[in-house]
Amino acid sequence: MIIGTEELDAREQALVAVTREAGELARELFSKPIEVKLKGKQDYITEADGQVERMIISRLKARFPDDAFLGEEGGADGKSDRLWVIDPIDGTANFAHGIPHFCVSIAFMAGSELTLGAIAAPMYGELYRARLGRGAFLNDRAMRVTDTDIKQAVVELGWSSRRPVRAYTSLIERVLATGATFLRAGSGALGLAYVAAGRTHGYCELHINSWDTLAGLLMVREAGGWTNDFLGSDGLTRGNAVLACAPGLKDALVAATGVGQANEKLERRIS
Ligand code: IPD
Repeated sequence: MIIGTEELDAREQALVAVTREAGELARELFSKPIEVKLKGKQDYITEADGQVERMIISRLKARFPDDAFLGEEGGADGKSDRLWVIDPIDGTANFAHGIPHFCVSIAFMAGSELTLGAIAAPMYGELYRARLGRGAFLNDRAMRVTDTDIKQAVVELGWSSRRPVRAYTSLIERVLATGATFLRAGSGALGLAYVAAGRTHGYCELHINSWDTLAGLLMVREAGGWTNDFLGSDGLTRGNAVLACAPGLKDALVAATGVGQANEKLERRIS
């Protein structure tokens, strides 16, 4: 790893503190009337997104002035092999409609290594975190994925307007044909955190951005799950398809979704 333990310890501590604080700010803003706009088809932005992202970046910059940032709203800022990837509010459409299923998601990369992740779901009082090689936690409880028979599996299928509707409806059909059921709750980051927590058994989306996924992907891996190589093919800047699941469901879900097939060599399994 290209980062020392002390440097990483400092970032982990800052990450958890800022994610918690950002979650509290998002919770406060959720209870107020707020301006909502569409930036694309079913792609929302609220005043809260910008406000929360600016707060996160100012806190982290004050402690780590040479680190770089990639935020959903502000884009790339700085160049460094220490990179923070930030989604100030994931599940913005839910947030905009008064639905409490949203979160703040922040990941940290040291070079090409996804090293830290934290997610705050402030309306549920939940703080998720993971560190490479040191496990994943929901509040103080260690998380483990839940393996199950595909016929009892619940798989979240995220929807993105960046792919044709037919591709999504066909994905639903193929996953249902395995015997699993599906849901769509509108936050990719929380969808992945739920797989890590063993609440659901898989998450798949045909295109999603890195700020929505990186923290949750590390959690799934650290909780014993399997993920495709999301960061391959420039996933950091261009987004990618994602599949994350309990290891026993990997073969059935790779076959059903088609995600993960091309990158067999690069896939990671951490148990
Ligand atoms: C979106 C959510 C949604 C996923 C979309 C994302 P946002 O992020 O994670 O669940 O299906 O692909 O763009 O806009 O709420 O941060």
